[in-house]
Amino acid sequence: MDNAVSEIITKAGTDQAAADPVQNLGPDLADFRDEVWLGLGQAQKTLPSKFFYDELGSKLFDEITQLDQYYPTRTETKLLGTHAGAIASFMGTGATLVEFGAGSLIKIRILLEAMDRPQAFVPIDISKEHLILSADQLALEFPHIQVRPVVADFASALDFGALVADSNSKRIGFFPGSTIGNFAHDAAVTLLATIGEVVGSGGELLIGVDLKKDNKILLDAYNDSQGVTADFNRNLLVRINRELGGNFDLGTFRHHAPYNADEGRIEMHLVSGADQTVNVAGKDFVFTEGETIHTENSYKYGIDEFLALASEAGFDPVQTWTDQDDLFSIHYLRAR
Ligand SMILES: C[S@@+](CC[C@H](N)C(=O)[O-])C[C@H]1O[C@@H](n2cnc3c(N)ncnc32)[C@H](O)[C@@H]1O
Repeated sequence: MDNAVSEIITKAGTDQAAADPVQNLGPDLADFRDEVWLGLGQAQKTLPSKFFYDELGSKLFDEITQLDQYYPTRTETKLLGTHAGAIASFMGTGATLVEFGAGSLIKIRILLEAMDRPQAFVPIDISKEHLILSADQLALEFPHIQVRPVVADFASALDFGALVADSNSKRIGFFPGSTIGNFAHDAAVTLLATIGEVVGSGGELLIGVDLKKDNKILLDAYNDSQGVTADFNRNLLVRINRELGGNFDLGTFRHHAPYNADEGRIEMHLVSGADQTVNVAGKDFVFTEGETIHTENSYKYGIDEFLALASEAGFDPVQTWTDQDDLFSIHYLRAR
């Protein structure tokens, strides 16, 4: 057991602060600046969606998951609860779980409670403060499980296999929330193949994937009436202003989230309401009125379409579950 988590366990029942994450390998300020400069320098300006998730961004995402119009979280959570017994029997005894994009660690509790003596849990997330809090809380609630948080960009070239290498148990990836939908086809295959390397041949992956459906349901989910998704989107500019000394005038950028049927994806954009020049960390970027920054893609899949993608990445299907309205799917896959 690592020191941080053993320290948390020792402190259970006291008022003392919990420990820091064991591994802090996330992007630093210079990485953030370079990626922002690169994205804003493109003809179609872009910003990577992974930078939505600072402390406030993670809280705003949690608020989104509670909205009536945002069906994915409650649908996936219900699916996991309904099928927890079957999932746990595939997972077997004493497994090590590795979660990619762990967030608030709500869904993993359903699995940890259903599983037979899980040995270790490695949550990976880019949102440092949020991961620390969530992992500390989980470690207190599940003192018999080793909780080994890793702050990192899971799509970076880090050797994630080595990070969980001190466990000899069967490895199972958990990738809920349809976060895979943030990646275009080739990047999604590469990311799933990386997960395949982490779990190894015969290792498994439980993944949540949002499905193609009536456009209105999709548009409502990403354009909620309370404006929380708009705040989440604009928080990227708030973060750039704060951390990189940017001077985005927030009131001049509005949230826009259309469904691109040709690409099968919801897109999130921030639209400039004026001709203006914005400075970020000493570099100027010129915007014309109506020009957008493309901040996120969220690809939607058919079941066969997703299983074909998973197969390209080296995973065979074991079982798929969907809700009765075919809104969302979860897939149990095995690495070849
Ligand atoms: C859509 S949320 C899903 C959260 C949670 N797993 C769920 O199912 O509700 C995406 C999560 O992945 C994290 N994330 C996004 N991009 C990431 C990246 N490139 N590397 C690591 N974590 C990332 C975010 O911080 C956030 O917690």
